[in-house]
Amino acid sequence: DGKYMVTLIEGDGIGPEIAQSVKDIFSAANAPIKWESVDVTPILKDGKTAIPDAAIDSVKRNYVALKGPLATPVGKGHVSLNLTLRRTFNLFANVRPCKSIQGFKTPYDGVDTVLIRENTEGEYSGIEHVVVDGVVQSIKLITKEASERVLRFAFQYAQEVNKPKVRAVHKATIMKMSDGLFLNLARDISKEYPNVEFDAELLDNACLKIVSDPSPYNDKVLVMPNLYGDILSDMCAGLIGGLGLTPSGNIGDECSIFEAVHGSAPDIAGQGLANPTALLLSSIMMLQHMGLFEHADRIQAAIFKTLAEGKTITGDLGGKAKTHEYAAAVIKNL
Ligand code: IPM
Ligand code: MN
Repeated sequence: DGKYMVTLIEGDGIGPEIAQSVKDIFSAANAPIKWESVDVTPILKDGKTAIPDAAIDSVKRNYVALKGPLATPVGKGHVSLNLTLRRTFNLFANVRPCKSIQGFKTPYDGVDTVLIRENTEGEYSGIEHVVVDGVVQSIKLITKEASERVLRFAFQYAQEVNKPKVRAVHKATIMKMSDGLFLNLARDISKEYPNVEFDAELLDNACLKIVSDPSPYNDKVLVMPNLYGDILSDMCAGLIGGLGLTPSGNIGDECSIFEAVHGSAPDIAGQGLANPTALLLSSIMMLQHMGLFEHADRIQAAIFKTLAEGKTITGDLGGKAKTHEYAAAVIKNL
């Protein structure tokens, strides 16, 4: 029927509510998407946390998935399912655009940068052990293979989105071997992209500079190892109004999963208070990834208009609207 099948992982907490807004807005916009909802409640396979086969098959079949937040146990319990998904499908690049929403006031104007985060290793490799009582080791694993892959992706992305400047963010002054490898590979690979300017910056300095004045970062694609990207992307989200407004895409060779960066917000779950914008903007990235630019533009314009009007926005943004009222306002603005 000319529709594209997309796997939908609604997620925990506020996940089902914000997923409902996406479904409602997509059908009002006649977006040619058919949702295939899957259950990702973890199973144990060879003693490790794993995703049920039916969910894996669905993502592989559809190539594209949209995902809500999945709760992550702190300091104990199973490995984060979010990470399991990234690793299961080898989603090596995490793309996190951070762009001010016109008309939505924050202390910063005109932020427009993109973070690309290595998504499979670093401190997230999950290799930890007790050496002796009171001494533990968490391994930061950096490989040439994964670094090259995400770096090449960043340079290509920079060319495509016409931000032909790549900056590697690192701490190679201290992590001489791991970040040193990442940085040296970035320098090598930059030579393959003569049209893209390349430079590098220390992570702590980047944090200081970006909160002081984000504008020098506007024309750049920032690429970095996993944990740095996790932290810096939340910080950048803070510049434009918080995690309720920032999308992300986990990109792999075989499939891609688009997800909101925020958590499952159990404190407000089930009350119709959640802001679906981050998941919506992630679904816009998904439409663009699928080449459905007209639908992407139309839905995105309606979201931005609704946020700029400021009358029907959710509590996290200083408004009073319920999730479904916000979605209805977006639909009216289509
Ligand atoms: C993110 C999240 C995840 C991460 C958590 C939920 C595992 O914070 O996508 O940034 O740390 O990568
Ligand atoms: Mn994070």
